[in-house]
Amino acid sequence: MNNVTIVIGAQWGDEGKGKWVDILAENADVVARFQGGNNAGHTLYINGEKTVLHQIPSGILREGQLCALTAGVVVNPTELVQEIENVRTKSTVTADRLWVSARAHVITPWATYLDHLGESQRKNPIGTTKRGIGPTYAEKAARNGLRLGYFVQDKARKEWLDRMAQDSAPFAEHLKTHAEEWRRFEASAALIAPFVCDAEANVRNAINAGKTLLLEGAQGALLDIDHGTYPFVTSSSTAAGGSLASLGFSPKRIKTIYGVAKAYLTRVGEGPFPTELHDDVAKHLSTKGKEFGATTGRPRRCGWLDAVSLRYAAEVNGLDAVILNKFDILSGLSEIKMAVAYEHPKLGKITDFPWDLDVLKACKPIYKTFKGWPDEVPTTGRISDLPKDALTYVRAVEEAVGIPVAMVGTGVNRGDALYR
Ligand code: IMP
Repeated sequence: MNNVTIVIGAQWGDEGKGKWVDILAENADVVARFQGGNNAGHTLYINGEKTVLHQIPSGILREGQLCALTAGVVVNPTELVQEIENVRTKSTVTADRLWVSARAHVITPWATYLDHLGESQRKNPIGTTKRGIGPTYAEKAARNGLRLGYFVQDKARKEWLDRMAQDSAPFAEHLKTHAEEWRRFEASAALIAPFVCDAEANVRNAINAGKTLLLEGAQGALLDIDHGTYPFVTSSSTAAGGSLASLGFSPKRIKTIYGVAKAYLTRVGEGPFPTELHDDVAKHLSTKGKEFGATTGRPRRCGWLDAVSLRYAAEVNGLDAVILNKFDILSGLSEIKMAVAYEHPKLGKITDFPWDLDVLKACKPIYKTFKGWPDEVPTTGRISDLPKDALTYVRAVEEAVGIPVAMVGTGVNRGDALYR
């Protein structure tokens, strides 16, 4: 039975996945996040009310839905406790509807400290969210990490802390100098313990029993540790395939894979961005699109849609369709551009997204130019209801990327969506 749908970000994150997960969750029994941690920020507007989620899947705002964080995520326990308290004012959050993987690794105050230190010492900083994500995945890979299932057991947690302090004098020093932070960290163990379980087994049992699962990606395809613009990436597998490793389930269950892309492009942090703009169009996109990070508040770099990287994301993730989001932000621009290839000073025309950042840095976009549409687009209905020039742009995206645009986002609210 094909009862698993995957939604991932098809760009550098911040595509507005949260809203689409929320819409698609209507037909899902279980919603799960499979990678990343509190570096993500999903902003949802339901009945005009804004909610920002960092770790809990956005399905939590629909009463009755089951939510899971599976093995490949990293969890900041103190922040998760706060997030649970916050969501509790809007929805029911109980242990029988929020499953947090015992296998997931814990983001410790030490990891957060190392992330700050690493960024300040690097000659070329990555521009991380400084949430301790990279150091936590590094410790996991080095097999020194602390799994959530052990974190919530007092004896196992203490043993881990003692071992780390014995092995590392700076760690032992940090325990002393940041005692209050560590106290709060340890205190959160009892508060999240009820939610910690074999989340993977629970989700597998649910899908084997015929329930539908929606897997929610965080960050985006170009931030994938393997397939993204390394080293300017996050430390997890953001690709659709990452969900297979994180949850552990049969790929034969997958029904549809959606990639959410903005109708333009943004990036936070460092790294090459061939279609980046620094003109009035960038100002328009940034202001109208409110392009400031949900997690860090940092202004996002803005530019035109890049069909070269989107085509690459479609291939790497096996996308069935694109969800073209924040389409309304383009309204009012006299002219709209989309990169369909790159021009490299030595290599000539490039149509495949390069792995080599030096090549990418030297690439100039080859644009296709479209007539803008002066008025706001309809917010509900069918994609074919779009004004002629707007529809031409959507069709051009489909042609350039080679897959259909299944839905178009036309505003921040749950209902602001056009369908095929
Ligand atoms: P980290 O995930 O904090 O290690 O940051 C690594 C890179 O991923 C930086 O460029 C961040 O700006 C970027 N990043 C991490 N999370 C997000 C996100 O949710 N949206 C967009 N970019 C992100």
